[in-house]
Amino acid sequence: MEWRVPLSDVNFTSDEEEAVREVVHSGWLSMGAVTQAFEADFRAFTGAKHAFAVTNATAALHLACLAMGIGPGDEVILPSLTFVATANAVRYTGADPIFADIASLDDLNISPNSIQSLITNKTKAIMVMHYGGFACYMPLINQIAETHGLSVIEDAAHGVGASLDGRALGTWGGVGCYSFFANKNMTTGEGGMLLTDDDTVAEKIQILRSHGMTTLTWDRHKGHAYTYDVVDLGYNYRIDEIRSALGRVQLNKVRDANQRREALVSLYRQRISHQVPQISVPFKEHPGESSHYIFPVLLPKGTDKLAFMAGMREGGIQTSWHYPPVHHFRIYEDDWRARNNQLPLTEETAQREITLPLYPAMSEEQVHWVVDAMDKLLN
Ligand SMILES: Cc1ncc(COP(=O)(O)O)c(C=O)c1O
Repeated sequence: MEWRVPLSDVNFTSDEEEAVREVVHSGWLSMGAVTQAFEADFRAFTGAKHAFAVTNATAALHLACLAMGIGPGDEVILPSLTFVATANAVRYTGADPIFADIASLDDLNISPNSIQSLITNKTKAIMVMHYGGFACYMPLINQIAETHGLSVIEDAAHGVGASLDGRALGTWGGVGCYSFFANKNMTTGEGGMLLTDDDTVAEKIQILRSHGMTTLTWDRHKGHAYTYDVVDLGYNYRIDEIRSALGRVQLNKVRDANQRREALVSLYRQRISHQVPQISVPFKEHPGESSHYIFPVLLPKGTDKLAFMAGMREGGIQTSWHYPPVHHFRIYEDDWRARNNQLPLTEETAQREITLPLYPAMSEEQVHWVVDAMDKLLN
């Protein structure tokens, strides 16, 4: 379908083409100098001591859990209002995801109070997800973790370029994970990055990313090593040089792109408050600098959300839903029910939230079209 206003769009120019062409000409396609430079760029961009590029953020989250020593019998507290990969990463290790509620209908991030209420003697870690690139309340979450001896993992899939108190999202916990999936603020098609300041965690991630091997093909190619041992049950979660090259170009653009997103969000907020004030827009005075990955709004209570989305679609406007709560998916629901842990704010948000189009190339006129279309459906 040809959308008048699509939900998102990539931000590519001839720079990305040129970067890919250079890699193809070089003849070296995986885990080489370009990936090392991409990781160095991320260290400089975020201030993290270590950065590891991987195939995608799901792999990053899985490695993060393993590097934090999470395994069978452990519980990890995380939001249900997230993409399913956040919970799946916990399950891959044999641990149980325990779903916490969000803070409020304005702050759609995990609630520190809900985290507190779910801690047991099996709790091993807290996994936060910075919804839309808006920071979770990390000082308090880190304090709770410290008090109870828990690890903190950040699913910062939405948060490239976002920060809290000047500190990059993804660098507040023991380990942080970014996504470069096709619809993210910066993309390599598929791709992800892990950040950590902890040398021991970094060593585990490096080994587990590549089959549990002690040396890499690149080191052997450079003559730095001749052989290797396998010291852990590792994976092949490596990124390739083409994606790393795309990532380097995209990272250079992400600050400007995020600023453009922010300007569009201001216009949206202004228009919505005048024209359709019955729609509420979360994260009103949220602390920190968001990446504005998505623009979520809450429809008035009782609105038939699917009919509303269908109405927008008829007007050529693509909308989405972030997210169907994970605890209602079939593979998680039985376990969640057995724990009898209610998530009223997550439930209400799931009923009312829709995500409106947002991408750097979007025009002001397109923002007006979206708001006019909502006005027509609601007024
Ligand atoms: C919150 C969240 N976590 C994890 C992921 C998984 O990222 P990836 O597609 O890079 O595996 C995504 C992306 O789709 C996401 O939005």
